[in-house]
Amino acid sequence: MTNIPQTMILGTGRAVPEKILTNADLEKIVDTNDQWIVERSGIRERHVAEKGAPLSELAAEAARKAIEDAGLEAKDIDLIILATVTGDMKFPATACFIQELLGAKNAAAFDIAAACSGFIYGLQIADSMMRNQTYRHALVIGGDILTSIVDWEDRNTCVLFGDGAGAVVLGPSQDDRGIISTYIGSDGGYSKLLYNAGCGCINMPTEENIKEKIHTVRMEGKEVFRHAVVAMSKAMKKVLKQADMTSDQLDLVISHQANLRIIEALAKRLKLNSEQTYVNVDRFGNTSAASIPIALDEARRNGVIQSGSTIGLVAFGGGFTWASGIIRL
Ligand SMILES: CC(C)(COP(=O)(O)OP(=O)(O)OC[C@H]1O[C@@H](n2cnc3c(N)ncnc32)[C@H](O)[C@@H]1OP(=O)(O)O)[C@@H](O)C(=O)NCCC(=O)NCCS
Repeated sequence: MTNIPQTMILGTGRAVPEKILTNADLEKIVDTNDQWIVERSGIRERHVAEKGAPLSELAAEAARKAIEDAGLEAKDIDLIILATVTGDMKFPATACFIQELLGAKNAAAFDIAAACSGFIYGLQIADSMMRNQTYRHALVIGGDILTSIVDWEDRNTCVLFGDGAGAVVLGPSQDDRGIISTYIGSDGGYSKLLYNAGCGCINMPTEENIKEKIHTVRMEGKEVFRHAVVAMSKAMKKVLKQADMTSDQLDLVISHQANLRIIEALAKRLKLNSEQTYVNVDRFGNTSAASIPIALDEARRNGVIQSGSTIGLVAFGGGFTWASGIIRL
């Protein structure tokens, strides 16, 4: 049997829009206040894109940093997977625009939609495609401009989201570093608890649909909260079991940054101490598919994790979808 190398992370990068929207700014837009937002979500500020700004540019910026960090050039990339639910257009895939912006002429490029779990879905897809040795250097990007689809008059949702993109470059590993285990799951029975019904084939952009704000995010916050904690905790336990590991062997767990209370509830269920738990939701809000790769890049670049660190990743999102992974950096 041939010895197929593990897939490892060679480089990471992130990009967020310059403009910051604080809770105080939101107080001027909807009937809310800083205390409520901080107490219920842990969010203090979020980066927001200008109206009409393309996700492809933000994602390409994150990707360029990841490619540079990996010591590679765009021409070395042979696969680009973008996880998003807010691509530039319906089609072509935003990954194709990113390919063009990067000049990554040798890559196959496509998008996947698994909402906030999308980045880990992308990791698993890229890992499988690389393990059959068809692809050598994959770029996996999670990016969303969620603020382009929120209802700015709905205080239940508009305070929660932010924009950004994070990227990793994957390549073959020469040692024990790499993607140790991944798991993805979904349950479409819960699709109506978190969704955006607009802009698909069932709801054309008619005057009436636009008036009904059909193109904006709808969410049953409490229900989503409850399911997110349970599903992420099960998903993390599943990959730990697959890897024959326990949570105390993880140097850090980067969970989807949607709400500080969800992150804390998850840490409690997984028996993680505060040093094993990464939090940046206070500064970025929920950036959907970008949340995990942004946190991963930030944790790497600020020295919280380094080469050899063992990291758990876990996410939950619309669908419902959930996903988890263990990587050795
Ligand atoms: C959205 C969320 C923060 C709300 O927190 P909660 O404790 O469930 O709060 P509730 O929805 O019960 O709302 C409590 C009250 O606050 C009010 N409220 C909601 N948003 C508010 C806001 N931005 N500012 C002030 N008050 C607000 C509600 O209207 C409600 O008032 P009422 O009791 O008079 O009806 C929380 O449910 C959550 O984070 N859910 C998960 C969301 C998520 O992560 N989504 C993405 C998953 S990928």
